[in-house]
Amino acid sequence: MSSPLRPRLAAVLALALGVLLALTAMVMRPASAASTLDQLAKAKGKYFGSATDNPELSNSAYTAILGGGEFGATTPGNSMKWDTTEPSRGSFNFSGGDTIVSFAKSHNVIVRGHNLVWHSQLPSWVSSLPSTQVQAAMENHITTEVTHYKGQLYAWDVVNEPFNEDGTLRTDAFYNAMGSGYIADALRTAHAADPNAKLYLNDYNIEGTGAKSDGMYNLVKSLKQQGVPIDGVGFESHLAIQYGFPTNMQQNLQRFADLGVDVAVTELDVRMQLPADTTKVNTQAQYYTNVVNACLAVTRCVGITIWDYTDKYSWIPGTFSGEGSALPWDENLNKKPQIYGAISTALGGTGDGGTPTPTPTPTPTPGSCKVAYSANDWGTGFTANITITNGSSAINGWTLKFSYAGNQQLSQGWSGTWSQSGSTVTVTNASWNGGLAAGASTSVGANFTYSGSNTAPGSFTLNGTACS
Ligand code: XIL
Repeated sequence: MSSPLRPRLAAVLALALGVLLALTAMVMRPASAASTLDQLAKAKGKYFGSATDNPELSNSAYTAILGGGEFGATTPGNSMKWDTTEPSRGSFNFSGGDTIVSFAKSHNVIVRGHNLVWHSQLPSWVSSLPSTQVQAAMENHITTEVTHYKGQLYAWDVVNEPFNEDGTLRTDAFYNAMGSGYIADALRTAHAADPNAKLYLNDYNIEGTGAKSDGMYNLVKSLKQQGVPIDGVGFESHLAIQYGFPTNMQQNLQRFADLGVDVAVTELDVRMQLPADTTKVNTQAQYYTNVVNACLAVTRCVGITIWDYTDKYSWIPGTFSGEGSALPWDENLNKKPQIYGAISTALGGTGDGGTPTPTPTPTPTPGSCKVAYSANDWGTGFTANITITNGSSAINGWTLKFSYAGNQQLSQGWSGTWSQSGSTVTVTNASWNGGLAAGASTSVGANFTYSGSNTAPGSFTLNGTACS
């Protein structure tokens, strides 16, 4: 007869052994590799992709990164466009697109087809057709191309860039031949050829609210009301720091989502006038952060695609003279710590962009101002309290400037006029605290929101002079 204690003892010993093994494993496990951008996005139910183009695929260092897990989606930059796929009427060439699809398949990456109907990169045979023949040519082009890729693509940009800046439709070959109905016709034709591909309209300068975005919004609303097969709207997001960040991007994405369509950031890059400098890169990092935050905040935002990942193959320098440095990897295929880090951090990761480039700290001159900074942080926001102590000469009116490294966003300030541009915060005196005698102090404060980390600013200037 076995003692009833024995099984219990065995269970206790087994449990103890289990705990011991688990602890040993925890202690011995090497630091886990940082998550890729796509892994981070996937954890939030979205994808993170990069466009590519055929000539680049011969660069093995490039393809190692493209297919190495950072990206879960890709878009051919050129090889599915009309000028490539049907350069003359009825003669089709899908070889470039096929190469990208097969690369994507073997690397477990989904493909956004780009694009079927567009006024640009359109062969001249289409634009010179008599208008009575344009519809048949368009439908044949769509049917042939969508059928060729049937079942292999996640989505199609069916009509690309249909709008003028004022929100009216472009008078291109398709509009001139068929009126605004060409869009519904294109969507229906694509749907008939591949009922499972998500069908998108895609455009630029619709990321924020405004006339062009309203044009797209009204179109999508009316297409939905008519039962036209439309699944999504692509927001290209070719941003430039000199034009400001789109107005209310998150709310704008949300209002489209509320129409019952998916939304996606389809061609993200953030360009600047060259040369890059610390201030520009700080702003650029903030823009990337803002785009990621906007998509994350909208459930129906399915993913973000950057318009290639490296400056080496960016379209920007060739299209916008004097501009560039728009992508998270530099021309040598190295991650830019700050930009990659901003994207990773916004996606909930740890950055892992290597060592951040230190921001040069201005050296205070003896007898200059002093700044004491403290933050009362509640996790998603904080109150910043700043005491300014004037240097050795009296001033009448002051401007305080400093920058945050993260996505800290000013909501409300007091005891001065507060503003923020990118990551740089500027405070000017209120009417009653502008005059400061030598060594005199005054305090200001503001509330901020943030996500990720909240590091105190490293340096402050008062009227352009660094404070200690
Ligand atoms: C660009 C490509 O990246 C370039 O290589 C090509 O010379 C021009 O087109 N909006 C779009 C994309 O929808 O197709 C464009 O791609 C960039 C702007």
